Amino acid sequence: MSPSASFSDVVRDRRAVRSFLDKAVPDDVLRAVLDEAQLAPSNSNTQPWIVHIARGTARDRLSEALLRADDEERYSLDFPYDGSAYEGAYARRRQDQAKALLDALGVSRDDEAGRRLAARRNLEFFGAPQVALLCVPGFAGARITADAGMYAQTFLLSLAARGLGGVAQTTIGFYADTVREALGLPDDHKLLFSMSFGYPDKRWTAQTPRTYRASLEESVHFHE
Ligand SMILES: Cc1cc2nc3c(=O)[nH]c(=O)nc-3n(C[C@H](O)[C@H](O)[C@H](O)COP(=O)(O)O)c2cc1C
Repeated sequence: MSPSASFSDVVRDRRAVRSFLDKAVPDDVLRAVLDEAQLAPSNSNTQPWIVHIARGTARDRLSEALLRADDEERYSLDFPYDGSAYEGAYARRRQDQAKALLDALGVSRDDEAGRRLAARRNLEFFGAPQVALLCVPGFAGARITADAGMYAQTFLLSLAARGLGGVAQTTIGFYADTVREALGLPDDHKLLFSMSFGYPDKRWTAQTPRTYRASLEESVHFHE
């Protein structure tokens, strides 16, 4: 898709991509995407996102460090994650998403080893030759992380508008110290999540079902 595709097409075609070609995104394309992501809105225009991009040997080093940390169960989160906090419809959607992902991979829910292997694909960036690590300053709270979310979606849509793709990954945020150590980041760059990105493997895209969305009535409430 060319960058001139309609906004609606870009929004509707974007999806989480979990299989990439072994083809690096050229510098000029990456630069254009980063320029557009930089236009994301933020509270008082503070632009509190700090983005580290790992590619080439840094990407490989990072992936190896993450896999090692996972083997050794060395988890370090800058922002807590509690899956059990999701209730009702939110818990149901979460379960549906996990099931759809495992079904697409042919892994059954009781196949512990298969599930672990599938989760570890995150740590290999799903084969993407580059990954963006999205950080915020050390003092960040909920409002600042919301600004980073604005950045992330602008980044992902800019990729989609160019026929590229990406996936946000909370999973990488479980290894914040490992990421800082592997890339030599300062302690006050707090890791929210990563985005693996690149050229989607179209065979994978064709085989993998799209996610569903709740009806508008479930999410939007009019007051008149
Ligand atoms: C903040 C955030 C974190 C996510 N973390 C992960 C992750 O760790 N691993 C993964 O495979 N997908 C992850 N996803 C992708 C979501 O599962 C996906 O966006 C969602 O199921 C909707 O599907 P779609 O993006 O294809 O529309 C994440 C998405 C967001 C926005």
